[in-house]
Amino acid sequence: MAKMLLPIFFIFSFLFSSSNALDFCVADLTAPQGPAGYSCKKPEVVTTDDFVFSGLATAGNISNLIKAAVTPAFDAQFPGVNGLGISMARLDFAVGGVVPMHTHPGASEILVIIKGTISAGFVSSANKVYFKTLKTGDIMVFPKGLLHFQINAGQTQALAYVSFSSPSPGLQILDFALFGNDLPSDIIEETTFLDDAQVKKLKGVLGGTG
Ligand SMILES: *[C@@H]1O[C@H](CO)[C@@H](O)[C@H](O)[C@H]1NC(C)=O
Repeated sequence: MAKMLLPIFFIFSFLFSSSNALDFCVADLTAPQGPAGYSCKKPEVVTTDDFVFSGLATAGNISNLIKAAVTPAFDAQFPGVNGLGISMARLDFAVGGVVPMHTHPGASEILVIIKGTISAGFVSSANKVYFKTLKTGDIMVFPKGLLHFQINAGQTQALAYVSFSSPSPGLQILDFALFGNDLPSDIIEETTFLDDAQVKKLKGVLGGTG
């Protein structure tokens, strides 16, 4: 009898002990991040606030080179999304603002225009361009990994929210990757076919060295 009950006991104790862990995996930001995200906070210390984020209520600072701000609610800012395959960000645009050509290596994106007029587009891996000027209420989807951009096309500030198919979509801005670091100018010129004057100028604007 005891022989039969023992496995049953283990099955039940496994089911009950793991039930919270299966519901969610709130990020433990004190532990390192792996390819699958952060490790889970102990369920006993998880609170409602882990599933609430107020950081998108406030406009980002648009006094910068791109006249725009991307405010993320990724797993690093919003631990509740860890492991759930989703996240969001807020985009604020001054007049003339632009989120320059960039990619999220880990996620597809859906943009919804809340205020203003935004021209947005992406380039497929066949180098076909999909581009449109969007108005309030329009949404547009950007397939995972493809280069895309958003431009404030109106004469007022613009506001949009984006959601991602990953809690950690990543953000790589093309111009910063090329000109905003210490990649040597001659390598950039060889790999982009730009001339020295163009490369030096962009390095100056974007804070690159080398
Ligand atoms: C916005 O950023 C600019 C440039 O970095 C800075 O001078 C300004 O104080 C910031 N404004 C706010 C409200 O943080």
